[in-house]
Amino acid sequence: MNIHGGSDAGPTPAHDFSSNASPLGPPPALLRAVLAADRRRYPDPAYTDLREHLGADLGVAADRVLPCSGGAEAIRRLSLAAFLSGIREVWVPQPGFGDYAAAAQALGLETRRYRSVAELCSGLRQARSLVWVCEPCNPSGSSLTAAEWQDLTLAIERSSSALVVDLAYESLRLEGQSHLPAHLQDQAWRLHCPNKVLGLTGVRAACLLAPSRSDALYLHAQAVAPSWVLSSEGCELLRAWRSPESADYLRQVQTTLRGWRDTQRQLLAELGWQQTSSCSNFWLARPPVGVQTSELLPALRQRGIKLRDASSFGLAGWVRLSTQNTESQAALKRALEELQA
Ligand SMILES: Cc1ncc(COP(=O)(O)O)c(C=O)c1O
Repeated sequence: MNIHGGSDAGPTPAHDFSSNASPLGPPPALLRAVLAADRRRYPDPAYTDLREHLGADLGVAADRVLPCSGGAEAIRRLSLAAFLSGIREVWVPQPGFGDYAAAAQALGLETRRYRSVAELCSGLRQARSLVWVCEPCNPSGSSLTAAEWQDLTLAIERSSSALVVDLAYESLRLEGQSHLPAHLQDQAWRLHCPNKVLGLTGVRAACLLAPSRSDALYLHAQAVAPSWVLSSEGCELLRAWRSPESADYLRQVQTTLRGWRDTQRQLLAELGWQQTSSCSNFWLARPPVGVQTSELLPALRQRGIKLRDASSFGLAGWVRLSTQNTESQAALKRALEELQA
């Protein structure tokens, strides 16, 4: 079972810093559409209208849009398709989202972890590999520079590897901009998981955008997709995700999150926490010396506050926190003042 932030078997935390999803909830019109989804019948199994709609909006042909029942399903599906197409080596970011490695390992694929783009580029051999890039990266909130993208493009071309750019948190980027080169958008797979920025992670919906040239990977990714992979609610979420109303709403979400992030970072700094820089709404942090993370996290959880233990990312002693509202920040401050004393 992979470790994740967010809900667990315990009571819903009153203050959940452990999920990276937006705490501001969905745009009202989108929520209405999701709640009004027609559950009485199957969606069109080919998702014809939805794929055309998304393709037109995202600038790709409709047959390049592969609806998925969440990013987690997309990761499994693409890993299986890679295996079926003859790929035997998978590169995953370290630290990075655990599902990339879990999917590869479940298929017996050789899993290689890279800590930097330089390490990835020098490690990519002639053998065709599947390469995951998370942009911005979960859990660090780091993002590739233009020069790194350039190096990566060359390494991918040289090894004829398949690149997948997981854009799960692109809309939750609060600083700077993506340097993903336009030409690479045509050559790489892209994964969009909008349920996070929409604050609706309980709706399982995502989409993969395939590169423009068809190859065995694309054919297998289509062939192994279950019928009706996307629910009626998922269809409505994806249809309304990029509407003008949603775009306005999500711009406001980013502005609000920027303000909350600043106060939250300030609060932790005042309490002596070490924090990494991040372009996103989440980052890595570590309590002051003398405070044991392994004891702190359960004590916070008992007070209704959940932080994501980063040990499963290979970062023992660290946590990952997402930006939460001022009320949750006040609760965290009170609890930390008491527990760190
Ligand atoms: C980087 C990244 N990609 C994909 C996912 C999968 O999300 P979902 O299956 O909800 O779309 C997650 C979930 O946490 C994630 O962090």
